Formats: sequence, structure tokens, C-alpha cells
Amino acid sequence: MLLKRLKGWELPERAVTSESVFHNRRALLKGLAAGPMILSAAALAGCSDEASAEADAAKQLASVEPDPSSHLYPVKRNPAFADGGPDRPITDPDLATSYNNFYEFGSHKNISRAAQALKIRPWTVTLDGEVAQPKTIDIDDLLDQMPLEERVYRLRCVEAWSMVVPWSGFPLSALVKLAEPLSSAKYIRMETFMDPDNAKGQKQHWYPWPYIEGLSIEEAMNDLAFIATGIYGKPMPRQNGAPLRLAVPWKYGFKSTKSIVRFTFTSERPVSFWEELQKSEYGFWANVNPEVPHARWSQASERPLGGGNERIPTLLYNGYAEQVAGLYKGMEGERLFT
Ligand code: MTE
Repeated sequence: MLLKRLKGWELPERAVTSESVFHNRRALLKGLAAGPMILSAAALAGCSDEASAEADAAKQLASVEPDPSSHLYPVKRNPAFADGGPDRPITDPDLATSYNNFYEFGSHKNISRAAQALKIRPWTVTLDGEVAQPKTIDIDDLLDQMPLEERVYRLRCVEAWSMVVPWSGFPLSALVKLAEPLSSAKYIRMETFMDPDNAKGQKQHWYPWPYIEGLSIEEAMNDLAFIATGIYGKPMPRQNGAPLRLAVPWKYGFKSTKSIVRFTFTSERPVSFWEELQKSEYGFWANVNPEVPHARWSQASERPLGGGNERIPTLLYNGYAEQVAGLYKGMEGERLFT
């Protein structure tokens, strides 16, 4: 029953709006006069829900507050993570910031304007659960204490599109150290904000809000696990998960949860958003593996954003096996890849 209601990235990729159709539609909407014209043109295209979201979002754009952390960027690129690998150019920033998954603002790719309703200040981050002392930190204080750097990572969505982007931020291990977890803590549960008045997708009651994701402590301490606070040398745009999101490039993109407000250290494995919704299709570990298909489509290849219909082979752990394969030694009996 749930699956019937789902739209977007949990559908086979052929059912998801293609990048070129998406951009043509955006160009059409952009070219039209505001207000009723937008509504009627989009209604003709059979997408009146999206049209009203566009109109709402257009109103919001006028009142968006600038990000107060702008002065921190750009930050120095870490030479150990300087590019996306051979033949993987950095994705056009216009694409990476306009073709998004952020279900809190709609179950389609075209949420960038609706996401401008996200209130990014005041914003606090709570570190709690099995820790020496729970803490709640203001985001600007956190940014001041963390070692900011830039890293270029690949991102592979479970839908089979991919991108290469320069994230700014800090290693997740630095946040774990700040939290001072007890030895009983085995996992971190990450929770996204709740604000259904501004994030209209959260009024869709069949989704198990808030969006939850989780990692084991060993994964969180791996050098690749990163908290991203910016992209392309600027503060994180709201649609990409301002003011802070996870970047774990060896896992499918849905693990990289956005706009986090709470990190809870726990002895029990958390149940993540998509796992709760459709456990048979989305497991906890969700590591990229071209040889393990999704229940409804192949994961053997991917479509880089900006490359038209070009497909390239997907790599085990999205090409980061050397850094992370060791994390899963002895866990071969577990469902590591879907
Ligand atoms: N985090 C939250 N809170 N809500 C979401 O809907 N979508 C996930 C992930 N993080 C999502 C989220 C999915 S499916 C993907 S592929 C990536 O965000 C997309 O990140 P991007 O929009 O910056 O490309």
C-alpha cells in the first residue's frame, strides 16, 4: 500500500523525470510571467501541484535571508580528496543545486525554490544519548570550532544518477570526539529538522518523519565520513541540506541525510527513514555495489548529471573500496549492499 503512494527516487529510474525533461520544464516555467501564467502553463503540462509549489516558492525567494556563515568560505581543498577520479569532472553547480532529492520539500527533483522556506537560523545541533554529557551547540559556534576543509566526492543516488561535487565541511570524527561517546555507544542516529509549516512535504503523513539516518561508530570514525556545511566554495544551499548534512560517498545517496539537528549515540541500531518505509528494498548499510541490484532495477551503471544519456559503470563502494571495505570484514552474512 505504501509503495502505491510513493513517487520519486524509489521508483525505477526510467520512471523518474529525466534531467533534460526536467530542465526544459524549468526553462519553460522561468520564461513565463509570474503568477497565473505559471499556474496555467504547468496545469497544461499536468503538474498543477508542482505549479503551486513553484508559486509559493517564488514568494519565498523574495524573503530569503542570506547565510551568515558566508565569510567562512571558500576553504582550502584537502589534497587527499582533490578530485572525483579519472574521467569524473566536477558537476555543473547549476545542476547539483537544482536537481535534488529533499522529500521534506516535495517528492520530486524540482524542490530548490520550495526549499528556500527552510529557516537556517537560529539552528542548534544536539549531541545526546550515550555520551559523557549531552550538549546543544549553536551552528555558528560549531562552525567556529571545527576544522573546515574542502573535499571532492562522488555521490551515487540509488536511482542511478550521480554527481561529483566539492563539499566544504569537517570530518564526522571531529564531531564524534566533541560528543565524547561512552563505550556502550555503537551507532549514531541522525535526525533532520521537523517544521511542517515551512517544509510542506512533512505534511505527507504516510512518510515516517522526521528523516532519520544512521551509521555505526566505526563508519563515522572512518576518514571519508564528512559533515558538509558548504558546496562549491559557498555555504550549503538550503536545497542541498543547509546548514549541515552528511556526506558518506561509499553509500547510496539516501544515507547522506540533510539539515541535521540531532546526533544521538546509541547501543541499538537505528531504523532509517527508507528502511522504515520499505525494508525489503532499503537496508541499513546501503553500500554501493554494482553487482547487487535494487529490488526493481539494476545498479550496474549510472548516469552522471550533465552527461545526457551517457552511462558509466558503477564501482564497488562507489570507488572508495580501498578506504572502507575493511569496515565490513567479518560481516559478510549481513545485508551490506541494498
Ligand atoms: N535528507 C533528507 N533529510 N531528506 C531527503 O529527502 N534525500 C536523500 C539525501 N538526503 C534526502 C536526504 C537522497 S535520496 C539523495 S540522492 C541525496 O540526499 C541528494 O542530495 P542532493 O539533493 O544534494 O543531490
